Amino acid sequence: MLIINTIAELTKTVEKVKTEGKTIGFVPTMGALHDGHLSLIKRARQENDVVFVSIFVNPVQFNNQDDLIKYPRTLESDVELIGDYADYAFAPSVEEIFPTPPTEKYHFGPVEEVMEGAARPGHFNGVGVIVRRLLDWVQPDKAYFGEKDYQQIAVIRELVRQCDIKSEIVPCPIVREPNGLAMSSRNRRLTPEQFETSANIYRILVESQQLPDVPQIKAFVESEIAKIPAFKLDYFEIADDKTLQTVHSLVDADGVMGFITVYVGEVRLIDNIRYK
Ligand code: PAF
Repeated sequence: MLIINTIAELTKTVEKVKTEGKTIGFVPTMGALHDGHLSLIKRARQENDVVFVSIFVNPVQFNNQDDLIKYPRTLESDVELIGDYADYAFAPSVEEIFPTPPTEKYHFGPVEEVMEGAARPGHFNGVGVIVRRLLDWVQPDKAYFGEKDYQQIAVIRELVRQCDIKSEIVPCPIVREPNGLAMSSRNRRLTPEQFETSANIYRILVESQQLPDVPQIKAFVESEIAKIPAFKLDYFEIADDKTLQTVHSLVDADGVMGFITVYVGEVRLIDNIRYK
């Protein structure tokens, strides 16, 4: 695997791959890579001739500076983990991507106004800024995103639609730790005790799938989360799987999912589950 640090080198490489008539699979990441990322990269490997991965902690999608500073940066082990599966890792500096502060403003409509969009002002604009630039430079046939960040995929689909980007967006299932916790770069910040306790998030979501309708699910999840002293619920929303707008009954939409965000100490964990 070759590591690329500059946009000039990246675009030159992409041009060469395109000239050879090869297809490109792309996995954008912020590093601190784990088996969840690896599953995206392996899928990209199966479905494309050439695989690009980006490793860039994008400062403009963090609305909390402390979270940005504490975000794990592990380039050396990242490169080791993906070396056998990716052809190119694009790992630029912040100055390379943002020599001046970005001024792009996106409006993704209702899908960005709820949940993460409401809780983290500016977050999805920052995601839009970096994903648009990366897709422009890499020009992938397919770009792969994990469903843990389900709302992010909805926002990126809207970005692709608005900007007439030709890449196919491929959602990939959540990969979980043996204890059920959704894999996340943020899990590295949990103490061993917090890591074990955090498995309760998925347990509670799975148990809630047995309940008949939205009011019972909501009451159950909220009360079960409240029973665990280490948890502070940020939100639990039950929503249409396409519009991401709240539903009040399972009959209100063809597809219905639950979206949860829990603080475990200072670490903010997100997860989701399908009800229908
Ligand atoms: O999901 C992530 O890791 C990031 O939001 C992404 C898509 C790489 C953009 O920085």
